[in-house]
Amino acid sequence: MSESRTYDVITLGAGAAGLFFAAEAGRRGKRVVVIDHAKKIGEKIRISGGGRCNFTNIHTKPENFLSQNPKFAISALRGFTPQDFIGRVEKAGIAWHEKKLGQLFCDDSAQQIIDMLVDDCRAQGVVIRMETAVEKVSRDGEIYHVSTDAGTFTAPALVVATGGKSIPKIGATGLGYQLAEQFGLDIIEPRPALVPLTFSGDVLEMTKGLAGVSVEARVSADPETQFGKRKAKRRTEFSEGFLFTHRGLSGPSILQISSYWREGGSVTVNLSPEKSVYDALRQRRAAGGKVEVHTALGEVLPKRLATSLAASEGWRGNLADWSDAKIDALAQRVHGWAVKPAGSEGYRTAEVTLGGVDTNGLNSRTMEANSVPGLYFIGEVVDVTGWLGGYNFQWAWASGFAAAQAV
Ligand code: FDA
Repeated sequence: MSESRTYDVITLGAGAAGLFFAAEAGRRGKRVVVIDHAKKIGEKIRISGGGRCNFTNIHTKPENFLSQNPKFAISALRGFTPQDFIGRVEKAGIAWHEKKLGQLFCDDSAQQIIDMLVDDCRAQGVVIRMETAVEKVSRDGEIYHVSTDAGTFTAPALVVATGGKSIPKIGATGLGYQLAEQFGLDIIEPRPALVPLTFSGDVLEMTKGLAGVSVEARVSADPETQFGKRKAKRRTEFSEGFLFTHRGLSGPSILQISSYWREGGSVTVNLSPEKSVYDALRQRRAAGGKVEVHTALGEVLPKRLATSLAASEGWRGNLADWSDAKIDALAQRVHGWAVKPAGSEGYRTAEVTLGGVDTNGLNSRTMEANSVPGLYFIGEVVDVTGWLGGYNFQWAWASGFAAAQAV
């Protein structure tokens, strides 16, 4: 092949962070090659947000991210904001809308975001090499060599944007973590996050029976265990959709709390956060007449859920015969249903990977490794993980932009 394989920057990973970085670095006059082993470009973007890509969140703040160093993301998030990305989306003529909670989606399709990124790369002369397997990465003096099944690429800068381990079916690998270790950087243990939780025993039997039932719930994780050995300062909780499934619990509130939950810890669910069950049942009792407790509860919760809870908790009889104290005890259970997950659905379905390249080894303004000049890590491979709701893409754009100003 006559093609020159010497560039200013080699980028590993043609996902959100890698493509955005490459276009920005290209705009600054850098000759950039992006190498990816997958067949299709930007697959995770394509399947994101139910096919409409929740590309940012207008309320993005550093508090919406988990990291061993919560301050690390501040500089990059300030340097490239949701408004900046909205500007790009509008310039590309992509129609968008806010769904809820500041979450912005394409009106039509996530493919529009992929097209926007790829078109921008092309306009900046970025070379994208898909279906190219990385065999070896080495550093010789100040030059990086990336050996692939299509030959060796060389450049004075290497940007690792290979993402996390979630959804291996569409190309996720641990390459970024291996490279970090190869160059002496520490790794915060990766784990699946934004993932459904699984159960065993009686709770599993209950969730199976209720599969498909959903409520708006407020969910929190046990503060004693939510950060492993480190105690959380306050209880983190999320009020969003909550879904019973054949294997356990899911829905946005559960995905959110899965990032905070740790093995052995429990999750507490307020099944009626907006309406006091105590007040509702007392009012129902005052209205008179004969009504079974589970029927009365079924006026506050979905009927199937009320019946199932009543059966498992032994709540029986005519509500008229229930004392205030008994109603109070029932209400407390409904508002504070504590369950212990057996595990999670794992990387197969997790939306992101928690942990990753330890930010202590990276410069927060540039994403460059402190001890290895010319080596950068951006996007999900870094130990910065956003909440559900467009925050992870915003991190991909912001960290990519930061590195692009520095290479
Ligand atoms: P990303 O995973 O996008 O890209 C990494 C690239 O590296 C891939 O193209 C991969 O093929 C390549 N690669 C990996 N190993 C390699 C190797 N060994 N050799 C060569 N190439 C390699 N976030 C959000 O903000 N809003 C949303 O709506 C959603 N929705 C969503 C849905 C689903 C189903 C998932 C799984 C995830 C989301 N996310 C999301 C999360 C979001 O997709 C994710 O955080 C970003 O894509 C991360 O961008 P990166 O570029 O870091 O990795």
